[in-house]
Amino acid sequence: MHDTIPNPASILPLRVERLCFADAQARLLEDVSFAIPRGGLTIVLGANGAGKSLLMRLCQGLLAPTSGAVAWNAQPEGFSRHAMVFQKPVMLRRSARGNVLHALAASGVARAGRAGRADAALQRFGLADLSERPARLLSGGEQQRLAIARAVAAGPEILFLDEPTSHLDPGATLQVEQMLGGLKRDGVTLVMTTHDMGQARRLADRVLFMHKGRLIEDAAAHTFFEGPAAAEARAFLAGDLLW
Ligand SMILES: Nc1ncnc2c1ncn2[C@@H]1O[C@H](COP(=O)(O)OP(=O)(O)OP(=O)(O)O)[C@@H](O)[C@H]1O
Ligand SMILES: [Mg+2]
Repeated sequence: MHDTIPNPASILPLRVERLCFADAQARLLEDVSFAIPRGGLTIVLGANGAGKSLLMRLCQGLLAPTSGAVAWNAQPEGFSRHAMVFQKPVMLRRSARGNVLHALAASGVARAGRAGRADAALQRFGLADLSERPARLLSGGEQQRLAIARAVAAGPEILFLDEPTSHLDPGATLQVEQMLGGLKRDGVTLVMTTHDMGQARRLADRVLFMHKGRLIEDAAAHTFFEGPAAAEARAFLAGDLLW
């Protein structure tokens, strides 16, 4: 029950150390190492199949690495201190508010604190008027906003987002970008993937560029977008890549 833990040590920095993931056919992630300090928004870029989603799922603990490690500064308790938003959010068959309440319970938030946190999260992200509506009847953009509200309601230190706006129209995309800006200002550390280069330029502080399961460039966003060091990254930005 993390409501009762006084000032727990930060789980950040996150250190990904020589991470490898293979199945019977192929080595899908090879020797990936980087660290995520507190704060900032990191965008993972790369062509389809480069290993971006796999990397996030390993960081979130949804898959076990073949070798290497995902090392948190302090051991997180359950999933409450790091959370993930998927490309196509899966909504439970209950109201928007019920989805947030369920996530809070699953994160180990004490029952007495759940309603207040759920209502605060719904209010903050403009979902208060939709809170009693069945989540599965919400539009794609509304569901994605709810997915983010649900993921952050328990107050994670770091949030992973896998192409959170790929199904959204420009207006809904902007709303999600504004949500992410607000979370960043509040000190939530963000790591996301996108294929929208305009979005990457607007949001990223740092870029991790993946190619064929390897991390081949790790740079400040302005450095990366001005001219990445790796030839594959230059080709990717020019639209000439390659998978
Ligand atoms: N759980 C898994 N077990 C085995 N192979 C997997 C698993 N998840 C993904 N893969 C494979 O790993 C490779 C990388 O997949 P991944 O989903 O990480 O790519 P991606 O960079 O996210 O691509 P996209 O931009 O298309 O989303 C693909 O070849 C995929 O088929
Ligand atoms: Mg993916």
